[in-house]
Amino acid sequence: MKTKTIFACTKCGASHPKWQGQCSVCEEWNCLEEIDVPRANKQIGSDVSAGYSGGVATIARLSEVRAEANQRISSGMHEFDRVLGGGLVPGSVVLIGGDPGAGKSTLLLQMAGNLAQQSSCLYVSGEESIQQIAGRAVRLGMANASVELASLTSVGQVSELVQKERPSVVVIDSIQVMFADEIDSVPGSVTQVRECAARLTRLAKQLECTFVLVGHVTKEGNLAGPKVLEHMIDCFVMLDSPPGSRYRTLRGVKNRFGAVNELGVFAMSDRGLREVSNPSAIFLERSSEPAAGSVVTVTWGGTRPLLVEIQALVDDVQGGYPRRVAVGLDAQRLAMHLAIMHRHCGISLADQDVFANVTGGVRVGETAVDLAVLVAVYSSFRNRPLPRDLVVFGELGLTGEIRPVPNGQERIREVQKHGFTRIMAPIANRAKRPIAGVEVAFVKSLSDALETLSNMLD
Ligand code: TYD
Ligand code: MG
Repeated sequence: MKTKTIFACTKCGASHPKWQGQCSVCEEWNCLEEIDVPRANKQIGSDVSAGYSGGVATIARLSEVRAEANQRISSGMHEFDRVLGGGLVPGSVVLIGGDPGAGKSTLLLQMAGNLAQQSSCLYVSGEESIQQIAGRAVRLGMANASVELASLTSVGQVSELVQKERPSVVVIDSIQVMFADEIDSVPGSVTQVRECAARLTRLAKQLECTFVLVGHVTKEGNLAGPKVLEHMIDCFVMLDSPPGSRYRTLRGVKNRFGAVNELGVFAMSDRGLREVSNPSAIFLERSSEPAAGSVVTVTWGGTRPLLVEIQALVDDVQGGYPRRVAVGLDAQRLAMHLAIMHRHCGISLADQDVFANVTGGVRVGETAVDLAVLVAVYSSFRNRPLPRDLVVFGELGLTGEIRPVPNGQERIREVQKHGFTRIMAPIANRAKRPIAGVEVAFVKSLSDALETLSNMLD
């Protein structure tokens, strides 16, 4: 087979014709790996690409194409389906990433068990033997499920098996142990991972069969190799496991068939992963004593609100520069908010270290938490606890104004449902009618908010 040598970045996947010390795309150092790619795609995996070669290309007029009503295959788990945008789309490829031990194999075996009840599912494991999988199935209470199992690492064998058996869903655990015989680099290398995924993707489209690929994440948080896959696959979901917690969050990173900001929550039990349908309740497990630096906010995760606790710690600088550390939040925004607080409210934290954290290992990407973060920082700085029945949300603008957030009314209703009685929210989110049982302080600027807060502090 004719090949050419290129250099692929293991961080961002960009390819370069020559070796260089730094990737010119992501600016990372020493991350280029030499790989051989086939000159013509036709020779590689010609079995699956047959039928595509030599055909005459045609054009379709958009208005005349009938959109396929995406019938979805349910994974049998509501939380998983929601993150996927309503279930698995036939013929699509889903990549599920996460740390080793997060529970990817457990989640997918449970899914396979559910799928086997209504359609056919093939579970290919390259990491565990069939006996080991069966042992896990016993633990999950699904020993009698009619899941088809195979312990394989050759992508060629997988293709053959899939073409013969025609299952509607195939799980590949994991893409890093798969290899294509024609390519002589080790499994897990960029070349192998890229080629195996490309073949499986072609197979998925050709046979209308859904593939769910498992990808392990390296210490730096990159999918080893499979970072290069992100553009090939249809959906990429991450299973996050906060250290020491039994809760797992599943979030969409890329989804061609739905929203990406959905969050699914599971709890790892002795009988596998269980769905948590009311996650606000678990993220709000707080000690009963009021503490300075803690406040509850309500974020919007795709189609539903989620209540989370924001904590902050402000302390005298311990040598050198003041530190701004954010866990689960954007650290640059934190620094920006502190500047706004200094400029518009005259509160300087230049001689203080500031730490902010979202409890429960949740990651919050939306700007609606801005005000809650600053409120927690302010409470810690003043060393005064906030009322425990208070929920704060709102976006902060550079001029010190509090900007409205989407779905304001739904957020307020969620807060009310959980028994909180006080809310601080942007004035532009003001409700037309008063909300029963909750006292809402609508604020228009940060100084307005801090003034309201001073009256509330114990
Ligand atoms: P696993 O699915 O093997 O993780 P991954 O495939 O992402 O590497 O999950 C492994 C962890 O889950 C392991 O630490 C044991 C735990 N676990 C339970 O607590 N209960 C169970 O029922 C199962 C099957 C696993
Ligand atoms: Mg596993």
